[in-house]
Amino acid sequence: MSMTLRRLSRAATAGLVAAAALTAAAHSAEAADTLGSAAAGQGRYFGTAVAASHLGEADYTATLDREFSSVTPENEMKWDATEPSRGTFTFTSADRIVDHAQSKGMDVRGHTLVWHSQLPSWVGSLGASDLRTAMKDHINGLMGHYKGEIHSWDVVNEAFQDGGSGARRSSPFQDKLGDGFIEEAFRTARAADPAAKLCYNDYNTDGVNAKSNAVYNMVKDFKSRGVPIDCVGFQSHFNSNSPVPSDYRQNLQRFADLGVDVQITELDIEGSGSAQAADYTKVVEACLAVDRCTGMTVWGITDKYSWRSSGTPLLFDGNYQEKPAYDAVLSALGGSGDPGDPGDPGDPGDGTASCTATYTRTADWNSGYNGQVTITAGDEPISTWTVTVTLPAQQSVSSLWNGTPTWNGNVMTVKPSWNGTLAAGASTGFGFTAAKNGSDAAPTVGTCTAS
Ligand code: G3I
Repeated sequence: MSMTLRRLSRAATAGLVAAAALTAAAHSAEAADTLGSAAAGQGRYFGTAVAASHLGEADYTATLDREFSSVTPENEMKWDATEPSRGTFTFTSADRIVDHAQSKGMDVRGHTLVWHSQLPSWVGSLGASDLRTAMKDHINGLMGHYKGEIHSWDVVNEAFQDGGSGARRSSPFQDKLGDGFIEEAFRTARAADPAAKLCYNDYNTDGVNAKSNAVYNMVKDFKSRGVPIDCVGFQSHFNSNSPVPSDYRQNLQRFADLGVDVQITELDIEGSGSAQAADYTKVVEACLAVDRCTGMTVWGITDKYSWRSSGTPLLFDGNYQEKPAYDAVLSALGGSGDPGDPGDPGDPGDGTASCTATYTRTADWNSGYNGQVTITAGDEPISTWTVTVTLPAQQSVSSLWNGTPTWNGNVMTVKPSWNGTLAAGASTGFGFTAAKNGSDAAPTVGTCTAS
């Protein structure tokens, strides 16, 4: 879509956006809230990362449209997707997401303009002067195309190293343009779309540590010198090695005190059940406790499409069922659930045993691979589960552990060996080794049943 058409389209949907906001603000006590409506009641947005390739899946889109008030294209606005060769911009996939969001009254976060990753190789081969021009052209190309349509842009992503040094990460931009590249990017971005909030976004900056201190000092310096920066994004990818920090709220607050908004931009927390739910609660409560925390985005809708799906880090399981973490987030946002929906805030379970199953390949070699199927109980405890796994016709399984298989052609039906009993929301799994015999395709995991 051309820039002019994009702007007209935006104007036409502005009414829809306003109507959606009003609806959200006026949510009644009787109706079930959604993440978006409950967050709107707190003056925040609640967003998700979206992949254009899944928009054709009815359950994916229905969940997106029902629950979320903001979307972030997961990969479609990155440099490799939008400017694969110099000066040739392609917006087809990103436009698809933006058009869908606008048609449903959702806002859009832009992710991301200047990042060392998902960078086409031509960028890395430029000399300094050319690279500076290319960086500015890229910012102008994207922000021009979506001018007036993006509430916040991740202008620069992940420019600092992990570890204790607080140093800048090596990248073509850092190595050839020096520390000033971030400032140049923000100044270019402000001129390209003065209405967009301009964010610096990073991970492992969620608590007070050497890396977040380095970002803090940069933001402080920018504010003191009038370099245009409006917000800092905290990715918030958590797991047992990187748990929700105890000083999360304090860290958000100290950035806010510099005079910038803070946003939780890529939230996901590996785990399951009540422990995962409790961690999500901590994050939502931290954001709500900081006035300038303007919104939260989870990094995907369903566990099955997460970038780390084996860790089941999201709010909806692989069958788009609300997890305990969903109920916890809704409750922390002050929302009320559907009285008929077990597990929703304030509602008991209805005694129906259920489970979900997700597959991941855990090892891979020329002639074979190891697969792992993770089983997660629903809102009720279960005493047994059954899952079918259909292998490509050529493949054969040589061993299977933590499960008991029976075979029908290339379909194996797996039941527990010792691990049938699960608490509500808890997980177990079985693994297997398969010979490829010429087919590298993934097996298909069927519906999980439990009692
Ligand atoms: O689309 C191709 C497909 O055609 C190809 O067959 C397949 C083979 O590997 O790759 C597909 O592309 C993958 C793409 O995701 C779309 O699924 C890439 O390989 C894969 O590298 C890419 O991963 C993305 C990752 O960023 C890349 O760095 C994840 O989806 C995305 O969730 C993740 O997001 C990042 C944020 O942008 C920045 N912060 C960290 C976060 C998590 O890593």
